[in-house]
Amino acid sequence: MGHQTLAETTKSGQSESKTANTKKLFIKTYGCQMNVYDSERMRDVLAPVGYTPVDSPDGADLVVLNTCHIREKAAEKVYSELGRIRKLKEKSGGKMKVAVAGCVAQAEGEEIMRRAPVVDLVLGPQSYHKLPEMIARVSRKLGERLETDFDTQEKFDLMPQTRTVDGPTAFLTIQEGCDKFCTFCVVPYTRGAEFSRPVDQIVAEARSLVAQGVREITLLGQNVNAYHGAAPKLEADESWGLGQLIKHLAKIGGLDRLRYTTSHPRDMDDALIEVHRDEPALMPYLHLPLQAGSDRILKAMNRDHTYAEFKKLVAKIRAAKPELALSSDFIVGFPGESELDFKRTLEAVEEIGFASSFSFKYSPRPGTPGAAMPGQVPEDVKSERLARLQKLLTAQQLAFNQSLIGKTLSVLIEGTGRGENELFGRAPYLQGTHFIGDENLIGNIVSVEITDAGQNSLRGILSDG
Ligand code: SAH
Ligand code: SF4
Ligand code: F3S
Repeated sequence: MGHQTLAETTKSGQSESKTANTKKLFIKTYGCQMNVYDSERMRDVLAPVGYTPVDSPDGADLVVLNTCHIREKAAEKVYSELGRIRKLKEKSGGKMKVAVAGCVAQAEGEEIMRRAPVVDLVLGPQSYHKLPEMIARVSRKLGERLETDFDTQEKFDLMPQTRTVDGPTAFLTIQEGCDKFCTFCVVPYTRGAEFSRPVDQIVAEARSLVAQGVREITLLGQNVNAYHGAAPKLEADESWGLGQLIKHLAKIGGLDRLRYTTSHPRDMDDALIEVHRDEPALMPYLHLPLQAGSDRILKAMNRDHTYAEFKKLVAKIRAAKPELALSSDFIVGFPGESELDFKRTLEAVEEIGFASSFSFKYSPRPGTPGAAMPGQVPEDVKSERLARLQKLLTAQQLAFNQSLIGKTLSVLIEGTGRGENELFGRAPYLQGTHFIGDENLIGNIVSVEITDAGQNSLRGILSDG
């Protein structure tokens, strides 16, 4: 589970079936965890109409690119990938169908159709339940090839209620969309207005995951701690916050670990902080993006809080849960950022201390207010600031990981590692952890004594208790 990274993941579930009417589906996923979740859901939607996941686009009947628009580089990848796909489609004699889904589809659907004739259909993040219908339409060469409606509720209501799982961990989207409109960000435009799924629907999905062996669920939302979903039927007319939802989910037998991401500092309420203190199933880890340390820049970003307020919030969270590890996101070179402003970011990082972080050069996104702001920062200045920030962040990350040496941590084993007899799992603070052990242990939570720590992972030995 790459956290918040714009990882490219290709995953297929079952092995290929040889049945004549089985069609091959290849999905390539870019962007955030929600896209990973959405790709799994697309597989679930397509399974009943005969599509089986495969690991390569070569020879696939349907290729789906699930795209990300967050930064320029992420969006560009789609067009270069489509170039490669075009050759494979030609090889198939035009039989292969090509779909572009995700945030680039939502943001520039028309442009994709124009620039890349190889594409048969384009569908935004709220249209995935319509995939089978759209494929049928394309096959008959009838009707619209572009679906970018914004009905998030319909999407969740019409998706299959059951999930196919892949290992002991899973993502579960509970909230989608964003009303915050940070001035650098495309998400409110690509994912639409904030929408929270009803508690009952989430519980049903969580139960279906646990019944298939899932022991850790990460609750997803672009603004997950703004969650306010309809309460269970018996308590009609009410809505629940994220804290209440987590307490409720933690009661599901067999669901041992819960996480959530991504949170906005403004929505971190006391009820949720109390759940961090009181609920052992909620892992002691919190991703809380700060973006910048300068109040002037935070204001220009429309983050709606000052650095002092962020610091106070962190103090409150740490008082409630002292061992909690914090991670964050940072942007350098937002329009108008001076050297002094940037130094405030470095000072903030020094002062707060993060167990891990993601940091990016500001990328002007078409249609967002930031792109039109004066004082755009030159590329070389952004690169230089990013390097200084990352030096500090990686040092903090290594120091945090090294502080775990000698401790015994609980690790949920996800699979085998690269080495002989090596297992791989996640520690409570999300680091990948490697150790020697029997394959039969996959899916279990075990105690591992940490003996070694690198920048991104831990190594240890299985301990008895
Ligand atoms: N909902 C989350 C962020 C989702 S996007 C939040 O409120 O913080 C993930 C991260 O990408 C952001 O935290 C930000 O650091 C980065 N990001 C978003 N837009 C960006 C842009 N235009 N340029 C550079 N980084 C950006
Ligand atoms: Fe983007 Fe801001 Fe919404 Fe996060 S809170 S998704 S950064 S607009
Ligand atoms: Fe990218 Fe869309 Fe996620 S822009 S980060 S895939 S919400």
